[in-house]
Amino acid sequence: MSQLDAFRLDGRVAVVSGGGGAIGSAIAAALASAGARVAVADLSVDLAMAAEQRICDGGGEAISFAADITGEDEAERVVAGTVERFGRLDIIVNAVGGGAGKVLFDAEQYPRDAWDWIYELNVRSTLVASQAAARAMIAGGRGGRVLNISSVRASLGINAGYSAYVAAKGAISSLTRQWATEWAKHGITVNAIAPTFVDTPQVAMLLEDPAFKAGVVNRIPLGRVGGTSDLTGPALFFCSDASSFVTGQILGIDGGLTATQ
Ligand SMILES: NC(=O)c1ccc[n+]([C@@H]2O[C@H](COP(=O)([O-])OP(=O)(O)OC[C@H]3O[C@@H](n4cnc5c(N)ncnc54)[C@H](O)[C@@H]3O)[C@@H](O)[C@H]2O)c1
Repeated sequence: MSQLDAFRLDGRVAVVSGGGGAIGSAIAAALASAGARVAVADLSVDLAMAAEQRICDGGGEAISFAADITGEDEAERVVAGTVERFGRLDIIVNAVGGGAGKVLFDAEQYPRDAWDWIYELNVRSTLVASQAAARAMIAGGRGGRVLNISSVRASLGINAGYSAYVAAKGAISSLTRQWATEWAKHGITVNAIAPTFVDTPQVAMLLEDPAFKAGVVNRIPLGRVGGTSDLTGPALFFCSDASSFVTGQILGIDGGLTATQ
């Protein structure tokens, strides 16, 4: 058996929440290419179906759900539907989130409605999807993998009106460690990736400002922002047997940004 086989996911079943998004769809396709059957869940039916199609076009097996993953019932419906279709659940990737660039306010004025929206989108979605998935993994008795998406903003401030987002990503990093501790007894590992800016539609508007982009890139030792393909290798590691003894970890995917702090 090759050491690379530890990264294979043949026979495994994954739910990618927010799997229609830029990062979620890239991770969903990567999991499928490693052999997993993948359920894509997204608020947007079009994006969910496009991600499903991308996997099927690549020879993989997928289903899609249009669902609002901030609701417990919807998260439960996705997990139950996945188990019904594929017979088990091994992996959940929580890729719903973001929104920071849409609600930039000075810290001393940060409004409650924007704060609550960012928390719903990032923290509530991660919470309810992980709870539903963990219940299915515990019932399945085979352990599992939870992969959250935090951000370098969980540990680095940014002078750009990000109060709610940094707090939400900090909460996701903390929950990653908490769930790793609680769910270890069930053989479930919980880890997070923490990217810096990834070149996606969510941050395109911010990065279109040359001064802003230069400010970002100049602080990154590797001299560029990330691409979605920079996240798929680490995601595969955390979702596979290659990371069997790794839990509660938050991996910066940031071109060395946090190493400079
Ligand atoms: N893009 C970046 O630079 C960057 C950097 C660090 C971390 N992140 C994080 O990565 C994650 C994904 O970001 P992205 O850039 O791929 O964003 P994206 O907007 O492309 O993807 C998010 C997906 O979630 C879906 N979604 C939104 N609300 C939902 C809901 N209630 N229920 C179900 N689906 C819902 C959207 O339709 C979208 O397809 C986010 O948590 C974000 O904070 C992104």
